[in-house]
Amino acid sequence: MNIKNKKIIITGGSLGIGKVTAETLVSKGATVLITGRNAERIEKTALEIGAIPMVFDISDLDNIPQQAQEAITLLGGEVDVLINNAGIGEFAPLGEITKEQFYKVYNTNVFGLSLLTQELLPSLKTSKGTIINIGSTASQKGFASGSVYASSKFAVRALTQSWQAELRKYNVRVCLVNPSEVTTAFNNTDRVERPIEAQKLDSNDIAHTIVSVIEMNGKGFIPEVTVWATNPF
Ligand SMILES: NC(=O)c1ccc[n+]([C@@H]2O[C@H](COP(=O)([O-])OP(=O)(O)OC[C@H]3O[C@@H](n4cnc5c(N)ncnc54)[C@H](OP(=O)(O)O)[C@@H]3O)[C@@H](O)[C@H]2O)c1
Repeated sequence: MNIKNKKIIITGGSLGIGKVTAETLVSKGATVLITGRNAERIEKTALEIGAIPMVFDISDLDNIPQQAQEAITLLGGEVDVLINNAGIGEFAPLGEITKEQFYKVYNTNVFGLSLLTQELLPSLKTSKGTIINIGSTASQKGFASGSVYASSKFAVRALTQSWQAELRKYNVRVCLVNPSEVTTAFNNTDRVERPIEAQKLDSNDIAHTIVSVIEMNGKGFIPEVTVWATNPF
């Protein structure tokens, strides 16, 4: 897909992977709408990178249909690419997990992601569009204290595979991108981004992967891609 003039929605575009991906797509001529929970943060980022800001908390499930329609309107009635990037984590070992942690993480990572995609599906079918779900290496393997987060990302992998089975016949491509550790503000309650470290992945590396997946000729698609740092230790 040629990115120039494409209409793209990125959930969680105010920081980290979503922000750098949005910036790259804008630089290639796309119109990009970015969402986030914090108004000040999303507006500041949008101004900085030339995107359209929208305060849209995807864990607010009852408001998704209305806000999805608003997003489509802000993009002039069309959506070519949806990047389901917004994601959060809660980490606790079995024995210390609370139901609030499950609700919080699943409302964003699984339920919000699914219900938003469902609202945008008619537009994506019309445009023969592309859906990119941001998973994690935690979509592939659990880890200690990962019950809540890893199971939510396993769900994202299952959603991706189910949508691939349903949507290929409509020429809608669905891809799962699994980053390993990336230096961002992820799981940082004060939302301050971690500094880039030479040997570790940063948001530019994942943005490059996402853009490559989108730019592939539309007759093919990459179902899943996992990105590791070569030697982060
Ligand atoms: N960083 C890593 O090591 C890593 C590794 C593997 C996978 N991932 C995945 O990569 C994705 C992006 O993570 P990141 O590292 O870039 O995290 P980040 O720096 O914390 O950024 C997350 C973005 O999502 C927004 N957001 C969070 N919850 C939201 C919600 N309910 N509705 C709308 N926007 C929301 C945040 O803005 P507000 O706070 O203003 O809402 C922010 O713009 C996530 O799905 C994460 O699971 C990250």
